[in-house]
Amino acid sequence: MPVARFPKTYRDRDRFAVILLPSSFCQLLEKARKASLTLKTGCCSAPANIALVKYWGKEPGCCQVPLNSSLSFTLGGFRSHTIIQPAASSFFLDGRLEVLPARMQETLEEIMQHLGQKTALRIESANTFPAACGIASSASGGAALIGAISDALRLSDFFSEKEHTLWLTEGARLFSGSATRSVLPAAFVLWERIPDSFNTKTHAIRTCQDFQSLAHGVVMLDQTEKAISSSQGHKEATTSPLFPLRHAALPFVLKNTQEALLQGDWLTLEMHAEHEAFALHAITQTTKSPVCYLSNATTTFLATFIAERYRQNLRALWTIDAGPNVHLLCPQQELPALKAVLQTIAHDLYTSITVLFNNASDFIAIGADQIATLPSTLIRQEVFAP
Ligand code: PMV
Repeated sequence: MPVARFPKTYRDRDRFAVILLPSSFCQLLEKARKASLTLKTGCCSAPANIALVKYWGKEPGCCQVPLNSSLSFTLGGFRSHTIIQPAASSFFLDGRLEVLPARMQETLEEIMQHLGQKTALRIESANTFPAACGIASSASGGAALIGAISDALRLSDFFSEKEHTLWLTEGARLFSGSATRSVLPAAFVLWERIPDSFNTKTHAIRTCQDFQSLAHGVVMLDQTEKAISSSQGHKEATTSPLFPLRHAALPFVLKNTQEALLQGDWLTLEMHAEHEAFALHAITQTTKSPVCYLSNATTTFLATFIAERYRQNLRALWTIDAGPNVHLLCPQQELPALKAVLQTIAHDLYTSITVLFNNASDFIAIGADQIATLPSTLIRQEVFAP
């Protein structure tokens, strides 16, 4: 099992066993601190993403070092909009006063202290998608928060382009691992683990033209909040006997998936994405404290979808994160055929199927000027009735 060595510099704090910031990110913090930048109001809108090759398991005792590299598709319409202001500490989510999740709060304090800035911030965040719809708001939320800090300190004027990208990717991942894949302006993003290092690398992945803007929708099967968080799942992952098997195969899966994206090889992409989703759930179900994130509705829908897809020769793939709702992706020209399949399933199962379709392929927008260019309709809901 790969376990990175601790770097030379780490800080103990009362509330943490060990707190670590990746060295490349620390250098940026140090550079910004020396410049004594003035914190103003900052805003950012960042997309969520759906992993086709999943991040599951992280190094114990340090900040968000993944045990494996992962690859995702950017969900331009499923976004978090975040505004930060230097003011009494408060966090508003979709207009309601809430408590900022512990990891976000701790990371924010750490970053602001390193920057020599006040840690008291008013944060307002709003999502374009409902909670528990199968999309982790921590990915878009973490990305929007690091982007809002960048805007508040006008870091894009201060850092070189390369430094600013590093700020966004390594900063986002401290808030939430998957958030690191939400800050690059690319349809497909690879988040790369670097063996024996606390730094990671994030890359835009090249694809064929056809795969640049895939159609995407989330089938809403169950909207109850999941009982076990993905943080807990990451901790447990290595206790599954299946973990090393998946781990050994991942370099091949990642390479093959990237080749499929470049060559427009849909069937290979579909095969790996679906194996990955099944592998993630096989692992969660075989850990020391097994967790089943899937509901009856998920398995019924999946079985029917897979059968109907083969019957109608549809080019569409499914994937699922740590939750019960199903993501569907297909080339844009297949969307009418996908909708026809969903209609058939609603009819066969005699149940209404609600799908949130992604209506945008925009990337991170930092600052009010960029946010103003985003489309007004980011998500479209469609119901397929029996
Ligand atoms: O970023 P986290 O800690 O919410 O973990 C994300 C885990 C999965 O969504 C299941 C997979 C992934 O790579 O996004």
